[in-house]
Amino acid sequence: MAFTLDEKASLLTPVQVGDTAASNRLFMAPLTRSRAQADGTPSDLAAEYYSQRAAAGIIVTEATSVSATAGGAYLNTPGIYTDLHEQKWAEIAAAVHAQGGKIFLQLWHVGRMAHPDISGGESVAPSAIAANLTTHTPSGKQPLPVPRALETAEIAGIVADFRAAARRAVDAGMDGVEIHGANGYLLHQFASDVVNQRTDTYGGSPANRARLTAEVVEAVVAEIGAGRVGLRISPGNSGGDVHEVDAVGVYEAIVNRIEPLDIAYLHVLMNPADQAFGEIRGLWSGTFVLNTGREIATDFCQLESFVDMGAISAAAVGRAYLANPDLIDRLVLGAELNEPDVSTFYAPGPAGYIDYPTLAVAVAPQTA
Ligand SMILES: Cc1cc2nc3c(=O)[nH]c(=O)nc-3n(C[C@H](O)[C@H](O)[C@H](O)COP(=O)(O)O)c2cc1C
Repeated sequence: MAFTLDEKASLLTPVQVGDTAASNRLFMAPLTRSRAQADGTPSDLAAEYYSQRAAAGIIVTEATSVSATAGGAYLNTPGIYTDLHEQKWAEIAAAVHAQGGKIFLQLWHVGRMAHPDISGGESVAPSAIAANLTTHTPSGKQPLPVPRALETAEIAGIVADFRAAARRAVDAGMDGVEIHGANGYLLHQFASDVVNQRTDTYGGSPANRARLTAEVVEAVVAEIGAGRVGLRISPGNSGGDVHEVDAVGVYEAIVNRIEPLDIAYLHVLMNPADQAFGEIRGLWSGTFVLNTGREIATDFCQLESFVDMGAISAAAVGRAYLANPDLIDRLVLGAELNEPDVSTFYAPGPAGYIDYPTLAVAVAPQTA
């Protein structure tokens, strides 16, 4: 389906996001692409992949593990905890900047989504409750194990890992970081009143379940400055069994605690038709980025109206950027969009990664 955006569309106007001057409000949502090397160093192709998409107001990278034990949910996902990782991310940031783009690194701890055959270690979580899911390991599909419940005294170490990873990201030249508090990973597991059954200060009340996310945000802000920090949340929904019976309560607790820090943005993955959306939106006075999520089709006319009304500061879109490096050009011209090829989302190699055609290629006359 083709959409047309007027060149003067609100989505295409600049926006200041913390310390970052974004040239437009159509951001690229974080997308795991499973092309990293086995040691977590990003792929040699990643600089090209991201720089092809540098026209996005801000690129949020694929989820990136903050420590060796933070990863292990899927094969070939990147990290930001060794000098080699940092060096490769620096090449990627430089390539995006050379094209005039901006890039935030998404910081990730998978918690109970890890499998020992991928992570090489045990999986940890707020409580010893397994995810009723399988993952692809080197020996094929396997169920996720029962994780070990973290000791209270261990939690400070996880906060410190996020802080150290944020330092490395900024040292690598990233414009900022996005803390991954969404989609059923560790921070979301703590926020959930379903899979967090703790009885210490990290479980129970909304304020307690909000504590880990808030502490991570505070630590990262202390390290790299609020203007370079975003937080992603997905209230009420991870697609699995991580959710909150009362989503508003825990996100109200998170927002109340972090709002005075004045971070760069809050990124919410949520269907705006959900009942809780208005309540959660109303809690945040800073820059608000919305990803409407996979439940509803990406409708650029609707996103434009949200920005127009002042309901959101910017929209993040995932699969449309994955398949259309020149998404903004296509929208301005009202051109058809390439369809994303699901079979290459997580496949190794360049196919479906750096070879989606731009319009310039698509309309170029064939030479013999
Ligand atoms: C291939 C793929 C990988 C994804 N990886 C991540 C990720 O690393 N971090 C994250 O927060 N969300 C991730 N998501 C969710 C997307 O950011 C986004 O919320 C989702 O695709 C819905 O937005 P869309 O309809 O614009 O694609 C992923 C989605 C897809 C399709």
